[in-house]
Amino acid sequence: MSIRFEKVDFEYSPNTPFAFKALTDIDLELSKDKMTAIIGATGSGKSTLVQHLNALLLPTGGKVIVDEHTIEAGKKFVKTKDLRHKVGLVFQFSEYQLFEETIIKDVSFGPKNFGISEAEAIEKAKRALKTVGLDESYYERSPLELSGGQKRRVAIAGILAMGPDILVLDEPAAGLDPQGAEQMMTLFRKLNKEKGITVLVVTHNMEHVLKYCDEVVVLDHGKLLMHTDMTTFFENEKYMEEANINPPSIIRFKAMLRQRGLDIPSDILSIEDLARYLSRRKGK
Ligand SMILES: Nc1ncnc2c1ncn2[C@@H]1O[C@H](COP(=O)(O)OP(=O)(O)O)[C@@H](O)[C@H]1O
Ligand SMILES: [Mg+2]
Repeated sequence: MSIRFEKVDFEYSPNTPFAFKALTDIDLELSKDKMTAIIGATGSGKSTLVQHLNALLLPTGGKVIVDEHTIEAGKKFVKTKDLRHKVGLVFQFSEYQLFEETIIKDVSFGPKNFGISEAEAIEKAKRALKTVGLDESYYERSPLELSGGQKRRVAIAGILAMGPDILVLDEPAAGLDPQGAEQMMTLFRKLNKEKGITVLVVTHNMEHVLKYCDEVVVLDHGKLLMHTDMTTFFENEKYMEEANINPPSIIRFKAMLRQRGLDIPSDILSIEDLARYLSRRKGK
């Protein structure tokens, strides 16, 4: 089972004066069962890339393979419904897509569409709402009454209710307050580690990448710049420079300590671990 991009090109509005090549020659194999961050500057092609995973966009060159599904440029792809059952895509600002009059109706809409009974769909919706931390007092409320963060939870529940194997989130924490953002990322990590859902998350937040993700994919002007595991990425200043990112504070602090001659192991990636390590050394 795999998620693969083979020589994928994508051009918006081909053969028109507005043609724009947003992805070029992407060769990428994503690890299933992991939590992978997709990073890169605005306009680097992150949203375009992830929309290929559920055939919302079709490659104009190469192929995208998701388990038994192959989406190949120039060939008709007919299993869209099956693929969307497998891959749940949560858009950026997904809260704007809520449309039903009650939360329970909104969240059960997706599963109902996949041909299960109303009662089963409601059951799935209830479970999904519980997962995102919204209890039964929310069921009959209008999504419009909620705060931005709560609305986004409802939108995510709508995707979770369909029981995806692969969950793709495009900047899910953008615009949330820091605590809400941490809760959101904790939820995805839990879905990944406890339920075995493959999670791909587009983000600009390097602290989140460091704290929650296992692997990192970096895009640059529509090309794949690198794909590596999180520790390797943050252990190599050269990688971070190439990716044009500011290292998280713990990484910068480690670099400063190393410059001063302290030997800091690479698996120390949080302030807590660093404090523990330094106090142990002091005692020696
Ligand atoms: N519908 C579209 N038509 C034409 N160009 C687009 C469209 N959507 C995005 N683009 C362009 O494609 C490039 C990649 O966009 P996108 O995938 O949204 O980047 P990111 O998510 O990394 O910010 C950008 O230059 C953007 O302007
Ligand atoms: Mg985007």
